[in-house]
Amino acid sequence: MYNNNRMKNIDSYTHVRGESIYVDDLPILGGTLFGVIFDSPVAHAKILKLDTSEAEKMPGVKHIITYKDIPGENQIGGIFPDEPSLAEGEVHFKGQPVALVLATSKRAGHAALSKIVMEVEELPVIVDPREAAAKGEIIGTQRTFKLGDPDGQWDKCAHVFEGVAESGGQEHLYIEGQGAYAFPVENGCIRLVSSTQGPTQVQRAACRVLGVPMHKIEVDVRRLGGGFGGKEDQASPFAVLAALGAMHSNKPVKLILDREEDMRMTGKRHPYTSDFKIGLDKDLNIIAYEVDFYQDAGAAADLSPAVLERSLFHATNSYYVPNVKARATSCRTNVPPNTAFRGFGGPQGMFVIEAAISKAAEELGVDRAVIQERNLFIDGQPFSYGQITEGCEAKNAWSQACEKFDVEGARKRIAAFNAENTFYKKGLALMPICFGISFTNTPMNHARALVHVYQDGSLGVSTGAVEMGQGVNTKMLQIAALTFGVNPDRIKIETTNTTRVANTSPTAASAGADLNGKALQIACNAILARFKTFIKDSFKASSEDAVELREEGVYIDGKKVDWNWETLVQKAFLARINLSEKGHYSTPKIHFDKTTEKGHPFAYHVYGTAIFETTVDCVRGRYEMDAVHIVHDFGKSMNRIIDKGQVEGAMVQGVGWMTMEELRYNEQGRLLSNALSTYKVPDIYSAPKEVNVEFLETAGSDLAILKSKAVGEPPLMYGIGAYFALVDAIKAFNPKANGLFSSPMTPERVLMALYNK
Ligand code: MTE
Ligand code: HPA
Ligand code: MOS
Repeated sequence: MYNNNRMKNIDSYTHVRGESIYVDDLPILGGTLFGVIFDSPVAHAKILKLDTSEAEKMPGVKHIITYKDIPGENQIGGIFPDEPSLAEGEVHFKGQPVALVLATSKRAGHAALSKIVMEVEELPVIVDPREAAAKGEIIGTQRTFKLGDPDGQWDKCAHVFEGVAESGGQEHLYIEGQGAYAFPVENGCIRLVSSTQGPTQVQRAACRVLGVPMHKIEVDVRRLGGGFGGKEDQASPFAVLAALGAMHSNKPVKLILDREEDMRMTGKRHPYTSDFKIGLDKDLNIIAYEVDFYQDAGAAADLSPAVLERSLFHATNSYYVPNVKARATSCRTNVPPNTAFRGFGGPQGMFVIEAAISKAAEELGVDRAVIQERNLFIDGQPFSYGQITEGCEAKNAWSQACEKFDVEGARKRIAAFNAENTFYKKGLALMPICFGISFTNTPMNHARALVHVYQDGSLGVSTGAVEMGQGVNTKMLQIAALTFGVNPDRIKIETTNTTRVANTSPTAASAGADLNGKALQIACNAILARFKTFIKDSFKASSEDAVELREEGVYIDGKKVDWNWETLVQKAFLARINLSEKGHYSTPKIHFDKTTEKGHPFAYHVYGTAIFETTVDCVRGRYEMDAVHIVHDFGKSMNRIIDKGQVEGAMVQGVGWMTMEELRYNEQGRLLSNALSTYKVPDIYSAPKEVNVEFLETAGSDLAILKSKAVGEPPLMYGIGAYFALVDAIKAFNPKANGLFSSPMTPERVLMALYNK
């Protein structure tokens, strides 16, 4: 039987043996052609001429596909139809797909690229979101969340501070790059294996471009070598091209991006630049907060409007602010369309209020933690979007973190260290988080599962959830094993496949385990109910409630009878009982009205607090994260090994975003940080030296699977604490350094701040 605390990720065995299968590991089918993309070398231009004739003559080249060869609609935009599959007439970012070369090898395909001639008339390039907004380059509509009457408060506030905060982009850097393998099958159907978080997104986009109904394209996903949001929508452009190639050539087409192509062609976390204004009373209660977010959306909408919305939802993080005005603008620039990234706009929103609090603390000469703690949410208070806090653990997590880490002791230790050392300074910061669970777009919150019990007692489980390293398959397996009381070895988690489970939402918003797990529970319980009736009738038991399945055995009124799981299944099959079931789940209670910007969009919230301690080398600007101590609200964790891994991984990813990962485009829209030599991600040396994750045992929520709260994204935002710990250390060296609200805090920026006046 499984034990919550010991069930390892079921993929770990094949992962460590190198036996796990990814798209690039699929056996190559005879006749396969390899797709290579000719992408735009300029960021914004009119295409005057595209000549592929010389490239077509290159050895091994079989076809070159342009927009003219698209049988359906040349459109892959999800929220807005503003993104062609292959450029037509214009290009809007450097890296935009223009043509697809199909060749007998990847090398042959790449060799042909330089023979493609594209003549262009260059157009002005915008890489700055504020410039885009000023020029009216806005995607969708501006959104404003409002609570109370902020405009009427400023005069009444004892203190008012204003400033600008900026956060940078972030490269997903999933280990497995974007890729797909398309196989033509009879009657114009295509089987499409894709590294995607959204099999249905891929299916819909491919059907639109190919001009075929959805039943003609089957999308199949075994697992991803990481997604982090980067494959929620952006697996589609590449899967669509593979499918287009397969349809055009009637051959299998494999398309896998190299690392550099992937970094150049795909969108990333949205950089934000924001104006803030914060008002406090004399007791440091935040009375009013106003924020204006400018999101760098890149050249097409992609998921930007949804990401923008989540920045608004999380604009006040864990703090109750009675008067709020949060406005957000999605700005069209000439970089690749930015997209979902763990936290989905939440981190960008939270960084700004943390900066605002920091600014207030700096001006008032108080510790930021004092302002933070004073303003934490308690039950019954409204968020700016109208939802009322319930089961709020903000203060609980905060106080447990302070107690367990002995934050007072740490402060004294740091002060003593800083008094003794001139060229090394330590800093400390606390970071509370509050993250809403559910897709903010209510209609996306549903899922399905399909369960087969085979005659021999083994089980096959399909859901809409995609495994990307977060352990969702292990959680699905636990649910089936728990419901039937069988050994986990009996259960196989099947691939995520649009033919078995249709109309899936992407595995995203941290809701994959909740939504699919609940659907799976419903399916398993339906089969279980049939089994119980069958057992009741066979053994003349008093009622179904007297029957129990556990440890592979059948129990009536707590006594074991002589059937085990296998005999039960065999007998039920002979009695012609249905051994398969489909389950459907949709989150109850949630709703949101975009016309009033009010509602109850989230099933529940996840809370926690992190404390960071850092040491800065004040001669070189280098730093180390000495320790991070996290108290996290898991509810009743259904798998502590996986959940702890999610917290640790997300935290380090957040630290990377806030401190060292620096994305840079030049004025011409060329990505300068386009390889691992120029883009630095945290490695084992830059991860915090000591990482403690404490489980805050809370009641969980009935809307969380087995009361085990969603864990995928919330802990990323702990990383913001690393930024402010660095600011704290910098100030110990240079008290005049102020207004440091531009992340990432790279060693270069630290060095400049240490010596600015
Ligand atoms: N963990 C790993 N190892 N790899 C990933 O790609 N993606 C994150 C998170 N954890 C990711 C991960 C993101 S962005 C989300 S939304 C959730 O996992 C999605 O999975 P879940 O809904 O099952 O938590
Ligand atoms: N989170 C993550 N992904 C999403 C969301 C969301 O709220 N909405 C649409 N895709
Ligand atoms: Mo996660 S950014 O919702 O894929």
